[in-house]
Amino acid sequence: MRIRERGDESPPRKIDLLETVVHRHRDLRLRPDRDDPPSHTCNSLAKRPAPRCRVYLASRKQVSAHNGPSQPSTADYVFHQPILFSCSTGREESNRSYRSKKGADARKGGCNVSISKILVVGAGQMGAGIAQVTAQAGIDATLADISLDHAQRGLGRVSKALSRLVDKGRMAAEQKDSILSRITAAPDLEAAAAGADLVIEAIAEDPAAKSDLWGRLADICTPEVIFASNTSSISITSMARDSRRPDRFIGMHFMNPVPLMQLVEVVRGLETSDSVCDAIVELARKMGKEPVVVSDSAAFVVNRIAIPMINEAAFTLMEGISTAEGIDTCVKLGLNHPLGPLALADLIGLDTVVSILEVMVAETGDPKYRPCPLLRRMVAAGRLGRKAGQGFYKY
Ligand SMILES: NC(=O)c1ccc[n+]([C@@H]2O[C@H](COP(=O)([O-])OP(=O)(O)OC[C@H]3O[C@@H](n4cnc5c(N)ncnc54)[C@H](O)[C@@H]3O)[C@@H](O)[C@H]2O)c1
Repeated sequence: MRIRERGDESPPRKIDLLETVVHRHRDLRLRPDRDDPPSHTCNSLAKRPAPRCRVYLASRKQVSAHNGPSQPSTADYVFHQPILFSCSTGREESNRSYRSKKGADARKGGCNVSISKILVVGAGQMGAGIAQVTAQAGIDATLADISLDHAQRGLGRVSKALSRLVDKGRMAAEQKDSILSRITAAPDLEAAAAGADLVIEAIAEDPAAKSDLWGRLADICTPEVIFASNTSSISITSMARDSRRPDRFIGMHFMNPVPLMQLVEVVRGLETSDSVCDAIVELARKMGKEPVVVSDSAAFVVNRIAIPMINEAAFTLMEGISTAEGIDTCVKLGLNHPLGPLALADLIGLDTVVSILEVMVAETGDPKYRPCPLLRRMVAAGRLGRKAGQGFYKY
């Protein structure tokens, strides 16, 4: 700790309760995976009442002695009300609302919706990834796109991704074959919809195209089928209206690359039912993901934060303040992000980034989200990022 010198006006550094808890916890060697982030440690502690109490009380005492009396912090909430903390991971959030409305049975987290076959519409980078994690979870998947050829290309992406895992020794060849055997490329939407319990839509981020698709799917699918959109920004409630089954409509926002990224934002529309929300939370967990239930609003949580940052990075480049590499290096090393915003834009696809910004402007009326002209020009030139072989970088 820094020693204060005469004339040094800066206040002494306060110590953080959460950090203290985590360090004490690690020192006690209560669990082997000591490199987990604090949130994991807290989740694990919240499930172990006795050590949780000891570690928390000792840490609280240490922090009060050092900092003096203070307002309750996140860690206080975690340890006093574990349900509040856990609810950020989805299961308890959906259970909580389910419980309050439907009584004791819901407490177990179960729901009576069974999902054994999923139709994924849109076989691009996201759709292919969603089909892959579906099949890896032991669930049959059908991939549909604007043509059989496009759907087969999506299947080809999955095969390539799995082959890479086999080459690296992370998956047995038989396992790859078994996963691939669970995915079918469909010739058309009507054939594809037969027998599906859930449709996950992952077509281009175009409100009109999505609205049209949901209208078609509403005609084709039986009323029991659940509809989920992987949209990055478009209102779940408005697509739910297009689908004519608002209670069975939900957002299931996977992150890119789907097989690697842990988070799924589960987006509740205004009329999404509790049982559908629970079923999707359960499904996300079955796929090995960490669901977080959020409310419907423009760009939800992740993109509301990430996309304006990407836009600002594009303005920074356009104004000649630094190069693409310079901007990304600043953010990576200065903010500790694994990927710079321009490299992230290339990964997402610049067309998708511009579409999300347009939705944000349309939904909020706030001009701060206007897409950077450089982004628009790059989209017009076909420099869409990784998927086109060139964006801010060459691939
Ligand atoms: N790219 C990302 O990082 C990312 C992350 C999360 C969510 N999303 C969302 O996922 C969705 C798909 O994004 P992507 O990156 O996979 O795009 P993509 O361009 O890679 O793929 C889109 C696919 O949809 C198909 N398609 C377009 N219109 C169709 C229609 N009417 N019927 C059937 N298929 C149609 C296209 O042929 C293409 O194969 C978008 O809503 C996007 O916002 C993207």
